[in-house]
Amino acid sequence: MNRKEFLSSIGMATGGIVVATCFEGCSKNIGSTAPSNVDFTLDLTQPANAVLTTNGGYLYSNGLIVAKTITGNFIAVSAACTHEGTSVNFQPNNNQFYCPNHGATFNTSGAVTKGPANTPLRQYNTSLVGNNLRIYS
Ligand code: FES
Repeated sequence: MNRKEFLSSIGMATGGIVVATCFEGCSKNIGSTAPSNVDFTLDLTQPANAVLTTNGGYLYSNGLIVAKTITGNFIAVSAACTHEGTSVNFQPNNNQFYCPNHGATFNTSGAVTKGPANTPLRQYNTSLVGNNLRIYS
């Protein structure tokens, strides 16, 4: 095998693996793996939670993503994308949750707005009393 043949065979092998991964990954939906019986409180005066004092900030806690929208509303949904379980992030300027793995998007209620996910994120209740943000199911 000469150099050109060798490089060609590696390229073909790598390409085959990438294609196989995409076919497996792009067709799998895990559905809802959302935490149940959720009830916890975040003290917004604590440094670990300070990001929620800023509109557009978000954090992860207890399997949820908790965000403060650009208009100042608190929202919470299950953090694991219902496609393959990657943690979603919050895009305040688009007012949506976004999965960086394959690009699924969810509105602030957790409903799917773009696939490949086809199951919504679970939405949780939020209640702010003083500096204490309660998140519960
Ligand atoms: S894991 Fe595939 S879109 Fe989220």
